[in-house]
Amino acid sequence: MSALTFQALRSLADGRFHSGEDIARSLNRSRATLSEALKRVPDLGIELFSVPGKGYRLAEPIEFLDAAAIAKRLAGVEPRVGLEIVDEIDSTSTRLNALAAQGAPSGTALAAEWQDSGRGRRGRTWISCLGGSLTFSLLWRFERGAGHLAGLSLAVGEAVARALAQCGVERVQVKWPNDVVVDFRKLAGILVETSGESQGPSVAVIGVGVNYRLGEKALERIDQAVIDVTQCAPAVPTRTQLLGEILASLAATLARFDAHGFPASRDAWRAMHAYQGRRVRVFPAREAAYDAEVVDVAEDGALMVATSDGRTVNLASADISLRTR
Ligand code: BTN
Repeated sequence: MSALTFQALRSLADGRFHSGEDIARSLNRSRATLSEALKRVPDLGIELFSVPGKGYRLAEPIEFLDAAAIAKRLAGVEPRVGLEIVDEIDSTSTRLNALAAQGAPSGTALAAEWQDSGRGRRGRTWISCLGGSLTFSLLWRFERGAGHLAGLSLAVGEAVARALAQCGVERVQVKWPNDVVVDFRKLAGILVETSGESQGPSVAVIGVGVNYRLGEKALERIDQAVIDVTQCAPAVPTRTQLLGEILASLAATLARFDAHGFPASRDAWRAMHAYQGRRVRVFPAREAAYDAEVVDVAEDGALMVATSDGRTVNLASADISLRTR
């Protein structure tokens, strides 16, 4: 995508008609160059109408992230979080992993208006659309070793869920290990990638994707039950507001995690646990799937399930889905 495409989309962000001539003039480009730059817009998962005599109009207005407002929200936050916002990137997590290897400081955050190769857990693709998702990553350095980061992804899920609830999103819950759900539909996904010495220090790149307003095109490509912020917040918060609150919530939670580990977040996590006491299907990475009942979450973040033969199994990693029958 060219920089001009994003400049033109900023001119069109209010969702009203703007003539090609006006936009081209304001950006100091020819109409032909503008029209070429706007041809790629459908690749961003959004719809642009072009009406002869009226100009261009976006199907939905787009709220671009407001870096100054987020910096203001994060001004007093300790430990410090420094955010950069880019228009386009392959994946904020891929980029932050590279920056981590180059020594970037703890608290470095990177948000992208558009990711063209967003990554999810277990090698999946994370699908988003311009203005309809929040996609960002946060680099955090820990004193504790990589071997003592068990439960980190749950603590992150709880911090994200709490921030969403504070912004007015209703019925927010967590799904083990680290999804944020509403009514058992996925609202946000979290990808935690860790490295470092087993006895410390260690580093985590925490990638967060929040479904904000998923258009039809994005929904067609997603193969699981999802929900977006606009569907579960009576007064819909802005993406800018959400990003500021989530980063502030994460900073507090991650500092606490470094000092005390998952036990410091465990009660809050349990209070938001959507699957407590539920019958689920367990999908371990390398074994056959089986049915079980969710009992609790352990101090190290493992999910405790009771199997049909009466055993309690502590799952360190797996996927689960609700059993409806
Ligand atoms: C999942 O539920 O599978 C985790 C999804 C994580 C997606 C986010 S979007 C920002 C960051 N960059 C990525 O490439 N992935 C994470």
